[in-house]
Amino acid sequence: MDKPEVKRLLINYKTLEEFQKFKEYGLEELSMLEDLQANIIEDDSNSPFYGIYYGDKLVARMSLYQINAKYDRYFDPPQDYLELWKLEVLPDYRHRGYGTALVEYAKSFGQPIKTNARQQSGEFWLKMGFKPVKYNPVRDRGESPYIWLPEGVKERELKEEDLEL
Ligand code: COA
Repeated sequence: MDKPEVKRLLINYKTLEEFQKFKEYGLEELSMLEDLQANIIEDDSNSPFYGIYYGDKLVARMSLYQINAKYDRYFDPPQDYLELWKLEVLPDYRHRGYGTALVEYAKSFGQPIKTNARQQSGEFWLKMGFKPVKYNPVRDRGESPYIWLPEGVKERELKEEDLEL
């Protein structure tokens, strides 16, 4: 099987139409739509979304946000990291390595990654080399964060300040 090609998605009406097939269609997409309608974002500008096409159909996607070191409460030493969201492969296209290809792409930036594992996806994240963090009710607030550590980076130890609101 050829290695699936990961592409950075453009913000335009075609991409937004493709997004409607994904379960995790929500506020982010709606605000992109509003921005497009109001011409605040330039049509065809780059988005935080990456995806894989099968022919001309978008079949897998994720979003990646760069988080500044000053907000880092997951890693030691504190540093810029990536937040991975909305990883989703359309049901008919699962188990072909597309999920892995997107995660590998995110890792290729060489920065630590944090994601929020949805129910029953923990096993997938473990296979991807991620690990669950020690839960902090104040920081994590009902999320189930999993992290990936590049060499030389550790999980941040819980500190008292992390437990303050
Ligand atoms: N639970 C446990 N393991 C899973 C899994 C799941 N739901 N889905 C796939 N795997 C395993 C595969 O068996 C494979 O392991 P193997 O290489 O040992 O056979 C490995 O994970 C990679 O599979 P891959 O084909 O790359 O994954 P995929 O393209 O099917 O995508 C998901 C996996 C989880 C992204 C996809 O099932 C999905 O979109 N699910 C719904 C949304 C979701 O749960 N997203 C998770 C992030 S919040």
